[in-house]
Amino acid sequence: MQLAGAALNAGLVESATMRVPRHVAVIMDGNGRWAAQRSLPRVAGHEAGSRAVGEVVHAAIEAGVEFLTLYAFSAENWKRPRAEVDSLMRLLARFLDERTGEILEKNVCLKAIGRVWELPEQPRERLERAIRMSAGNNGLTVILALNYSGRNEITDAVREIARKVRDREMEPEEITPDVIAAHLDTREWPDPDLLIRTSGEMRVSNFLLWQLSYTELYISPKLWPDFTREDFLDALRDYARRERRFGGV
Ligand code: FPP
Repeated sequence: MQLAGAALNAGLVESATMRVPRHVAVIMDGNGRWAAQRSLPRVAGHEAGSRAVGEVVHAAIEAGVEFLTLYAFSAENWKRPRAEVDSLMRLLARFLDERTGEILEKNVCLKAIGRVWELPEQPRERLERAIRMSAGNNGLTVILALNYSGRNEITDAVREIARKVRDREMEPEEITPDVIAAHLDTREWPDPDLLIRTSGEMRVSNFLLWQLSYTELYISPKLWPDFTREDFLDALRDYARRERRFGGV
């Protein structure tokens, strides 16, 4: 999409024709290292990370991004020490408590992907409430990946398709990439145009494995709590300069 004049006037972008990604996905990495650098407990890094979430959501709204997917808790993150998992879940519940009003005011539509039904009751109820209350909004869609694993998502889709074939609702020959995409958690949204990962790591870490096939990658050396609105806009500017070929010439 092309950018609205307001964003140009606000100095957000370089030109009125700057190509803005419709869908940006973010791996928010480096909270633990941020805390360690300050001799703070890891949870302090996650708290600082949740402030950065607010800043990036605002920047995405300003820039005219349509979909923002945030990797907030992976299915592998349960392997962390119990105290850290508990504090992340409390932080998520508090974030939703404190920010649901703002989500509604900013016309944000909140969604979630991952096995969210396995989350503890407190964050799950708040999440469901925020999703319900914001369902009619038509501004930025923020998609939280929670208890998410790309392999689990594909596995669940394969199971569902296999059931349909077994029940004669579908022939094996009818299974196409579009059919598989239509069985993923992300079925409602376009694939990400841009993936941002912070803290310099060059990995995809089981995030949106199917959906990232043609996504542009942007690795920032900054730790997530230090990632600002300006850093997000730098990533968009970098994206705008790239030529996407989708396997063509
Ligand atoms: C990775 O940093 C980050 C996470 C596992 C959790 C992301 C959570 C937040 C940004 C805050 C809560 C989110 C919301 C939506 C309220 P890490 O701990 O792996 O960092 P490290 O690699 O430096 O140890």
